[in-house]
Amino acid sequence: MAIKVAVVGCGYWGPNLARNFSQLAGTELAALCDRDRTRLAGLGRIYPAARLFTDYRKLLAWPEIQAVALATPVATHYRLGRLALEQGRDLLVEKPLTASGREAESLIRLAREKGRLLMVDHTFEYAPAINRMREIIAAGELGDLYYIRAEWLNLGLLQPDVNVIWDLATHIVSILNYVTGLEPSSLKATAAAYLRREIPEVAHIQLNYAGQVRAFMTVSWLEPRKTRSITIVGKRRMLVYDLTNTEEQIKIFDKGVDLDASHSEANQWRINYRYGDIYSPNLKNVEPLSALCGHFADCLKDRRRPRSDGESGARVVRVLEAAQRSLRRNGREIKLS
Ligand SMILES: NC(=O)c1ccc[n+]([C@@H]2O[C@H](COP(=O)([O-])OP(=O)(O)OC[C@H]3O[C@@H](n4cnc5c(N)ncnc54)[C@H](O)[C@@H]3O)[C@@H](O)[C@H]2O)c1
Repeated sequence: MAIKVAVVGCGYWGPNLARNFSQLAGTELAALCDRDRTRLAGLGRIYPAARLFTDYRKLLAWPEIQAVALATPVATHYRLGRLALEQGRDLLVEKPLTASGREAESLIRLAREKGRLLMVDHTFEYAPAINRMREIIAAGELGDLYYIRAEWLNLGLLQPDVNVIWDLATHIVSILNYVTGLEPSSLKATAAAYLRREIPEVAHIQLNYAGQVRAFMTVSWLEPRKTRSITIVGKRRMLVYDLTNTEEQIKIFDKGVDLDASHSEANQWRINYRYGDIYSPNLKNVEPLSALCGHFADCLKDRRRPRSDGESGARVVRVLEAAQRSLRRNGREIKLS
């Protein structure tokens, strides 16, 4: 029997979840909930079989629903997520999982106590290109990692309750955690707010990992062009991911620089540049959110732990929280335990 799912939040992202849960074989979009009647009615017209709720508590009181997918603003994730778990529902929460590490840990504990599934929508972790990047790094194709540079830029959508870090950097942090398997030991963040005081639209974060590995990321809601790119520079090869290049989302460059430092005098050291081939792996054409919703349904059916579980959500939230702390201290380095 299909698993009955309720999508809560019919704004920008909720309709994408609704579409996927309505199309998947193993799930049924049984209910929609939004306190905004116009938005709810609009989405309700597309899915006439779904029951509509403006009151979230009334939705949870309806016993038919097995799982709740939350696509409401970040500040509400913890409170609404707690209520769903307390009412015995399995839970999919939009990224970022919560607005603080403490909230994330509390949700994880509650899900465990109640024997419910907790999953976070780290959409990119279900994208074929990102999974291929993870395999390439794990196979050692790039060699030891030097540094990573990531840019997530576009015009808008300014979020009402969070700054650009909690919106766009969430994606980059979840991708980097996933593809490298590394966790940063410290970070520094700087940002600027041009339109609204205290809610930066542009930010730069430096993540420091063990050794000299670094990740530099820029996120912005104030750019004329949409950019979603990650460059990973390794000792052996270099990789470029570009979401907007639909034909060649990943390119691997057999390029690099080797230093022959055998001579005792530094000015006699030889620098050798390598200019080798460039290749682009063929990738499956799968919508990441469809793969994610399918994985959620499989985990519900088999009662197994999702890949992007509460812990993975908490790891991302702790980095975002540390970035926020660094901003408050004018870019000071913050240690991550
Ligand atoms: N995975 C992704 O790529 C991706 C992309 C965009 C947004 N998101 C995430 O999705 C979430 C929502 O973002 P959005 O841009 O869709 O926001 P939005 O403001 O467009 O929509 C949120 C909706 O939630 C409703 N809502 C708020 N509180 C509610 C409550 N208590 N009960 C019922 N409805 C309530 C609002 O009325 C609104 O319609 C955020 O966590 C955001 O980070 C994820």
